[in-house]
Amino acid sequence: MDVLINVFVALHIIGIASLLGGFLTQMKAMGAGTARFTPAMLHGALVMLITGVALVGLNQADDQTVNNIKIGVKLAVLVVILGLVYVKRDEEKVDKGLFAAVGGLTTANIFIATLWT
Ligand code: HEM
Repeated sequence: MDVLINVFVALHIIGIASLLGGFLTQMKAMGAGTARFTPAMLHGALVMLITGVALVGLNQADDQTVNNIKIGVKLAVLVVILGLVYVKRDEEKVDKGLFAAVGGLTTANIFIATLWT
């Protein structure tokens, strides 16, 4: 079971890489107001959701404690990210503030995941 959980943690990290990487590579474009939500960002956010839910189930099946409040906060933040990226996925230019908000919320979730023990 440990191996399976670690595989899903790795997939979870690949999801972060895709979502945050899509944001970071467009910071210059964001400054110019020409950034857009790329498929990598949308798919990364979806991977986060699927692997996150799977990790909750796997940890519970393995009788490991899961911090439900922390997971709830991460889930709420991700739902906002996913909603924004999904709704605006076809827009060729996304408002600077909105694009920055997605990067900020993603970064916030990384710190929630690592600092909230
Ligand atoms: C943008 C959104 C998210 C980010 C950046 C993120 C980040 C992370 C990181 C860095 C880890 C590994 C560090 C650790 O073990 O604590 C992790 C683990 C984990 N994540 Fe996420 N996560 C996100 C969304 C979610 C969601 C939506 C769920 C569940 C619905 C979830 C559930 C979990 C679980 C169960 C673990 C295993 C370790 C633990 O018990 O905390 N994550 N996440």
